[in-house]
Order: sequence, then structure tokens, then C-alpha cells
Amino acid sequence: MTAARNIVVGVSGGVAAFKACHLIRNFTEGGDSVRVVPTANALNFVGAATFEALSGNPVDTDVFSRVDEVQHVRVGQEADGIVIAPATADVIARIAAGRADDLLTATLLVATCPVVVAPAMHTEMWTNPATQDNVAALRRRGITVMEPAHGRLTGPDSGAGRLPEPEAIAAFSRTVFAGFAPAVDWRGKKVVVSAGGTEEALDPVRFLGNRSSGRQGFALAEVAAQRGAAVTLVAGRTDALPTPSGAQIRRVESTRDMDAAMREESRDADVVIMAAAVADFRPASEAGSKMKKGSDDAALQKIELVENPDILAGLVRARENGELRASTVIVGFAAETGDANATPLEHAEKKFARKGCDVMMANEVGRGKVFGQADNAGWILRRDAEPREIARGSKQVIAAQILQEVDGELARRTHNGGPVGE
Ligand code: CTP
Repeated sequence: MTAARNIVVGVSGGVAAFKACHLIRNFTEGGDSVRVVPTANALNFVGAATFEALSGNPVDTDVFSRVDEVQHVRVGQEADGIVIAPATADVIARIAAGRADDLLTATLLVATCPVVVAPAMHTEMWTNPATQDNVAALRRRGITVMEPAHGRLTGPDSGAGRLPEPEAIAAFSRTVFAGFAPAVDWRGKKVVVSAGGTEEALDPVRFLGNRSSGRQGFALAEVAAQRGAAVTLVAGRTDALPTPSGAQIRRVESTRDMDAAMREESRDADVVIMAAAVADFRPASEAGSKMKKGSDDAALQKIELVENPDILAGLVRARENGELRASTVIVGFAAETGDANATPLEHAEKKFARKGCDVMMANEVGRGKVFGQADNAGWILRRDAEPREIARGSKQVIAAQILQEVDGELARRTHNGGPVGE
């Protein structure tokens, strides 16, 4: 858990303003103090009483309320982080122009803390050159503007412009507040990420699976999408997680399904990340009907297992034989427990050498560690480099650091037209 911060949640006038309520809750439940600063139009959608009750703080929209407290200066100075969700085309334009015509825009002019803007508007308004120019101006000034999600907009239409889910905005904002503000520098790149656990059917109702939640893979997909990449998430069994904004999800069940999907999706990928917890074995046969206790069904007493393909090692081989581009960077994970013979890091270093990928995130797993948790820690391994120790942080903060290491490998493989020494 990070220390409590003063967070300003700015809300502007769009239908998605109701989602700001969940965002406020997410921060207060995480121990942060929240000050809500809506625009006057936002209050057409959600009342000030709701924002006051959820945040436990007063709510004003203009600089003429509580003038004695010089609010427009104090709120901005005291903020450790500001997130505006939803941000309409109008508020983005006013911020870009440096206006200070209400408490929110005045607060932004005073603040020096990290700022996240989560746009929500119709696709035409989002893609309009006026909005895009304004967004570019904000980004040039160091404001992190999230890529909007694709999906159902107000009314029957759908497309780019939807507000990402509050949980995703909160997680992403915390990453930015922690000092990892991803730049939008992966436009035109394709990133394929596997996530969650694969499941191997025993019969129509039972399967062999594992405790993976899918959180690390989803966090990688989110950060890669926020960097502007086209992201495909090949997901097995996961917790109920919001779809990362801008990512396409392809659901799979078994290891063999995941293997086929990863092979297909990776053909034109720039970065491939195996974050899934893959079942190494599957039952030798799958019963066509539910196995009954009390029967002399030998399969229930003793499950015979056969080995599954190693997807990661297979992708590395596919790159060697030209099925994947030579410039594709391949990332693996190592889930280790450590034993009498070696520490988790030593096991991970051996696995890294064995699998042949370019980057490996190693972490210690076990009950209550990593799987299903919101945070993670470990080491990032790269060829010809000392392991980089990664301090405990949210899975998005870890994801941002893994993708930083990928940058180095992308440059190396692209410039050399392939790997060094291979
Ligand atoms: N992996 C894979 N296919 C498998 C098993 C693992 O692609 N059949 C990938 C995982 O997604 C991860 C990496 O390989 O990126 C290491 O997974 P891990 O479970 O730590 O290792 P295993 O290969 O299963 O080795 P071991 O069980 O001996 O630790």
C-alpha cells in the first residue's frame, strides 16, 4: 500500500459523469483523500450532494465560492495527483487554451503534480483535428491523456470515445502518480499478451486449472494500449477484470487453444508477452460425460496426464524459423517458489536461459503471493545485463517497467535486423 495522497477528481459534463462516483470510491477505499471539482455542467448529470457524500469534502465549481480560502490556489497546491474523468472535448479545449474560467481549470493552472485526463465523447468529437490538436498540446506539456476505450457510447452508436472503466482509470492514475507516466510512443505497433490460467477438461464439468487471476497480463495490455499500441489479449480463465481500454480480447480455454491463438496473433506482432499461467499437463483423455463417484471409473481414481506444449519456447522457435518477424521481442514470466537447491532468482535465471526469450519477469509465487494480489515484485532479466530488482508495486507499475525494458530490446532487435549473437 502506498501512502495516502490528496487526489483531486475533476468531473466535466458528460453522461459518463456517473462513473466518476466509482472512481472517487476507489480512491477513498484505497486510503486517499479526495476532493471533487466538477464543472458546472457536470452537476447536470450528478448532484453536488453525491460528490460531497462520496468524498467527505465540500464541492464547488467556481472560484467565487469560499473566496476567503483562496480555493483555486489551495486545491491545486495541495494536490498530489489530479485525474479528470470524464473529460469532455470542451474541458480539454479549455485546458489546452490555458483558461481559468472555473475552479477546475484554475486548479490545473496552479498544480505541479501529475495530471491524468480520461476523455469521453463521441467518436467524431474525439477524432476531430481540433480535439486531437488539443490532446497533443496537453501531452506535450506532460499531462497524461488516456486513450479512450472502444464500445457503446451514449445512444445507439459505438466506437472510440468511451470512458474507460473506473477501476482501470484508478489503476492507471496510480501508476502515473507513482512516477511512471507512459508516453504514447507505441502507435503502429502490435502487442500480443497472454493472461490468466489455462484449463484442461477432465469431463464436461471438471477441469484442472490454477490460481492465476490474469491481473498482470491485463495490466500489461492496459499500459501497452495506453502507449498507443494495438493490443490483443489472449485470455484464459481470469478474475472478473475490466477489459483494458483499446485492447481486443480473445478468450481461450486449454493450453493447446492458447498455443494456436498465440501463434496466429504473433505473426505480425512487434511484442509478444506470455504472462499466462499455462497448465503444463493435461488429462490424457477427456470423458464425454460426467464421471460418477461410486462407479469403477478408473479415470476418477487416477488421472493420467500428458505434457502440454511449451508455448513460450515454441514462439521463440517460430521466430528462429521465420514464422515470426526476427524483430519481434518475446517476453516471458517465471513463477518460482525457491527450494532447497536454489533461490527463486536462481531458478528464474535457469528458466530464462532455457526458454530463449529476450526479457523475463521473475517473481516468487505461492499461496497469497502474487496470484490474485494487486501488487507484485521481483526481478527483470535481460540478456547481457544484471537482473534488475523491481520494488513491490501495483501490477500496472510493474507492467510499465517491463515495457521500459522491452523498449531496449525493440531498439536492439530492430537496429540489428535481428538478435545479436544468434
Ligand atoms: N509457459 C508456456 N507454456 C507452458 C508453460 C509455461 O508458454 N506450457 C510460459 C509461461 O507463460 C511463462 C513461462 O513460460 O511466461 C514460464 O512459466 P512457468 O510456469 O514459470 O514455468 P514452466 O515452463 O512451467 O517451468 P516449471 O514448471 O519447471 O517451473
